Amino acid sequence: MQDSILLSVNDLHTWFELKRWGFLRAGFVRAVDGVTFQLKRGEAITIVGESGSGKTTLLRTILGLARPTAGEITFAGRRVDGQKAEDLAWLRSQVGFVQQDPYGALAPFMTANRILKEPLAINKVNEDEHEQRIRGVMDEVRLIPVDDFLNKFPHMLSGGQQQRLVIARAMILHPRLIVADEPVSMLDASVRVEILELMRNIQHTHNLSVMYITHDLSSVRYFSECVFVMYAAKMVEKTDVREVVRNPLHPYTQALLTAIPDPDPENAGRFRDIPPGEPPSLIDPPKGCRFHPRCPHIIKGICDAEEPPEFQPAPGHFVQCWLYKQES
Ligand SMILES: Nc1ncnc2c1ncn2[C@@H]1O[C@H](COP(=O)(O)OP(=O)(O)O)[C@@H](O)[C@H]1O
Ligand SMILES: [Mg+2]
Repeated sequence: MQDSILLSVNDLHTWFELKRWGFLRAGFVRAVDGVTFQLKRGEAITIVGESGSGKTTLLRTILGLARPTAGEITFAGRRVDGQKAEDLAWLRSQVGFVQQDPYGALAPFMTANRILKEPLAINKVNEDEHEQRIRGVMDEVRLIPVDDFLNKFPHMLSGGQQQRLVIARAMILHPRLIVADEPVSMLDASVRVEILELMRNIQHTHNLSVMYITHDLSSVRYFSECVFVMYAAKMVEKTDVREVVRNPLHPYTQALLTAIPDPDPENAGRFRDIPPGEPPSLIDPPKGCRFHPRCPHIIKGICDAEEPPEFQPAPGHFVQCWLYKQES
């Protein structure tokens, strides 16, 4: 059903031009290079990929913080890729952003109360509502008792509490979507699960959509409905969480899964088959499939020659890999 789609991203490209040297054009960093996906209302998706695969640039482009080179972004039925000020202001009132580094995201000289008041003031929310809204979100993210936290500055909070405050700020305008860019990667392992569970609870309570970005596939199992895998600026596999764990199709996704430490002591020390090598340059990506130089299943003459289109070997399971070419 078309109207259950909140966000639709179609063939999105975000390229950064490199500095010119004299009369030579130095080229482009193709940080996002033809990404298509949809997010439904109330649904959580995870975007997973190694550092440098274009995850943050994808988010920044969706939020209007980076200019798309080509492609379309539609949010709640409205095109928002034109970088028009009114569209972006509207979009930012609809989308809450949770960054990777909570301390860097919070103004150090502002109290929690002021940090939460600011978006309300900017968006001209009736003053009478401010206190109730601020107390409401603080209670929801468990910064309680609220009176103990209202006048605290960010440096007086633990890393986990800072991230709770960032989540509270992301929630305060009652957004339809929360975008979280590696929200727990800078936190102590002991609080990571709590923060992910908090986001999951908030998602269910408010029927919110969530885009959760991570380089760590092991954290998706208890978080989202769908997983989208990025490799070298492309979305190479899209499917639901159970399927990605049970039946990963792309050789890169298979490699990511084997890289997760196995908690079973019987398997400790078992050799894991991770393809050697590094992700490719995004300035001059390899011809054909971008994973072919590392791929254990390469079909010579095909994978190194032509870019794979998206195949759908099973309903709702999409993969950009020649191994799944359907016979016609
Ligand atoms: N503003 C920018 N100018 C030039 N290159 C950029 C810019 N932002 C990101 N990049 C490059 O784009 C690629 C993808 O980066 P990023 O989106 O941050 O990946 P990820 O979040 O997956 O680690 C990297 O090669 C990065 O250096
Ligand atoms: Mg990033």
